[in-house]
Amino acid sequence: MIIGVPKEIKNKENRVAAIPATVAEFVNKGHKVYVENNAGLGSGFSDEDYKQAGAIIADCETVYKSAEMIYKVKEIFPQEYKYLRENLILFTYIHSNAHLEQTQALLESKVIGIAYEDVEDKNGRFPLLKPMSELAGKGSFLAALHYGQSVHGGKGILFNRICGVETPTVTIIGCGESGMGAAELAASFGNNVKILDVNKEVMNESKSKLPSNVEFLYSNRTNLLKCLKETDVLINCILWNKTRKDHLVYKEDLKLMKGGAIIIDVACDDNGAIETSHSTSHDDPIYYEEGILHYCVDNIPSAFSRTASISLANATLPYAMEIANKGCEKALIDNKYLLKGLTCYRGKLTLAETAIKHNLELTLYDEIIKDFK
Ligand SMILES: NC(=O)c1ccc[n+]([C@@H]2O[C@H](COP(=O)([O-])OP(=O)(O)OC[C@H]3O[C@@H](n4cnc5c(N)ncnc54)[C@H](O)[C@@H]3O)[C@@H](O)[C@H]2O)c1
Repeated sequence: MIIGVPKEIKNKENRVAAIPATVAEFVNKGHKVYVENNAGLGSGFSDEDYKQAGAIIADCETVYKSAEMIYKVKEIFPQEYKYLRENLILFTYIHSNAHLEQTQALLESKVIGIAYEDVEDKNGRFPLLKPMSELAGKGSFLAALHYGQSVHGGKGILFNRICGVETPTVTIIGCGESGMGAAELAASFGNNVKILDVNKEVMNESKSKLPSNVEFLYSNRTNLLKCLKETDVLINCILWNKTRKDHLVYKEDLKLMKGGAIIIDVACDDNGAIETSHSTSHDDPIYYEEGILHYCVDNIPSAFSRTASISLANATLPYAMEIANKGCEKALIDNKYLLKGLTCYRGKLTLAETAIKHNLELTLYDEIIKDFK
């Protein structure tokens, strides 16, 4: 198969879908890989590194026009719509429910879109979200370290255990991949860490992985309000149901927080679990509501682009390789977990959540694959 790796064009998106080692794996299996000029530069990989791995370096148009499968990181932007065509396989984060215009472009062009974020594993978890969530969680604690400093707008708190100084409290809502990433760093810095979740099984599992300065609490309004009053940092790591209209932390609740406390919202859903959150960018990452600093950057892993690219490429390669080796249809039939990622197939929308949200016609996966030869 011919695989194309474009340079990401989203502002401050420094990740790349395939690192040179990924290219070498494809080439070893007899595939051809086009990599756009400077695609890996933001992650510290030069065109020369890719050439040595066996890639063909080309301009953006050549990459898109030559490829049977476009292998990238972020969704497709309007400048890229012109490259979409029938049967082109698109393997990337798509987030079709959040980007209606893009979804329409994918449907009109009849591409085959497989979204990283919807690929599942046998436990119903999301293996292609996991590596980025871990980094986002770790990055969220690092953001707290940064914005806690008085020179960066904070109260001047070092989130660390210092002799003779009261140990800071870090509260994390959500004990999933990003919550665990945040907790691992916050705890290793010696802070008093509190994690709230609604899933007792997950909390029990996590307890054995984290040190004793991490306390696990059931997530209910009473515990949350108590934590809000005591915490120096609140880190939101919930996977929030986008159809919910309520919140966990209301604007009014911010008045309970200590002066100079910080909210780091990893989930960063607009008007989501935290009513006052709206997503921000690395260019303009923070804002204040009720005197509380909010950090809601929606692509935290991009700040750790090299680590993120390597980690993401390691996670996506087995699926991309299966598509390349077998062809898209056979790979989708053989691998029901990959099939979960199918967003659109030759003009038909297959992702229920997007169809429901935007009132679009849905075609079930089973309908689609029954016509595969
Ligand atoms: N900002 C970024 O750069 C970035 C990067 C990666 C992921 N994310 C986002 O972060 C969010 C979390 O991702 P994840 O992979 O950690 O999710 P996850 O599914 O691994 O974990 C979510 C956790 O939230 C818990 N939860 C659900 N309702 C809760 C409640 N009411 N109170 C407390 N806990 C509750 C769940 O039980 C689960 O343990 C997602 O929205 C994801 O899109 C953001």
